[in-house]
Amino acid sequence: MKILAVASAKGGVGKTTVTESLAVALSRLTHRTVLAVDLDPQNALALHLGVDPQELRGLSRSSLAGQDWRAVCFERHEGVYALPFGVVTEEDRTTLEAQIAAEPRWLAQQLHALDLPDDALVLLDTPPGPSVYGQQALSTAQWVVVVMLADAASYATMPLMQRMVQTYCTPRPEFAGAFYLLNQLNSARQLSQDILRVLRESVGDSYLGAIHADEAVPEALALGQSVLDHGPYSQARHDIMALASALAERMQVLPAAHHPGRGSQ
Ligand SMILES: Nc1ncnc2c1ncn2[C@@H]1O[C@H](COP(=O)(O)OP(=O)(O)O)[C@@H](O)[C@H]1O
Ligand SMILES: [Mg+2]
Repeated sequence: MKILAVASAKGGVGKTTVTESLAVALSRLTHRTVLAVDLDPQNALALHLGVDPQELRGLSRSSLAGQDWRAVCFERHEGVYALPFGVVTEEDRTTLEAQIAAEPRWLAQQLHALDLPDDALVLLDTPPGPSVYGQQALSTAQWVVVVMLADAASYATMPLMQRMVQTYCTPRPEFAGAFYLLNQLNSARQLSQDILRVLRESVGDSYLGAIHADEAVPEALALGQSVLDHGPYSQARHDIMALASALAERMQVLPAAHHPGRGSQ
């Protein structure tokens, strides 16, 4: 099992969009089982992955009931499973968060109990900024993808994310690396170009790539589809496939016979 967390200091930057689309893209590129786990009480990943909006079940209720998460992993695309956060009362959420805070290995143990195939990929969607969920995700993942927008406010939050990675990830021997991704890039804007350049200079090889601002993304969400299927010729799909290839290569999860650029899209 290889675990990747998707994180950001700010909300609304595209974490859930990135988690969903990378889950589908990585499944298609690697042919491995992919599980996308929603650790954000907003429970938005279910919508992105087309889970029934009436569905209340998820990891929150299962955890509170002392059950493992197997019954709440929903297969949404071939080989792609969604594990929603689910819906709980505010009181139950507070109880759950206290339980999680008292058990630093909560997430690791729950994922282990799923008994996924050895080569499975797990993507963790997280709430923005510091939280018990984000802390568990960063303490469990081997890789982290930090999502940012190409604007000054997002760029200003980079030191917070770097501190979180240094605190929860870097000290662990199994941690393999953090990557930075720019979302909603607008190539026509000088500011976007400037932030892209500064980011590349400051994080070097950890820069993973960018996803352009593309109406196909919110349209796909409104239709309950993956943007990879809704916009087969969209800029966003092109960008996401390129990011997934770069990520798969760095995580060394491409099938042995894979040749970059051939038959992979
Ligand atoms: N590349 C993009 N182009 C256009 N809209 C986007 C893009 N990425 C995300 N969005 C939109 O931005 C909003 C926030 O995205 P979301 O993934 O929910 O962010 P987060 O999980 O960080 O809060 C959604 O409405 C989504 O459709
Ligand atoms: Mg989200």
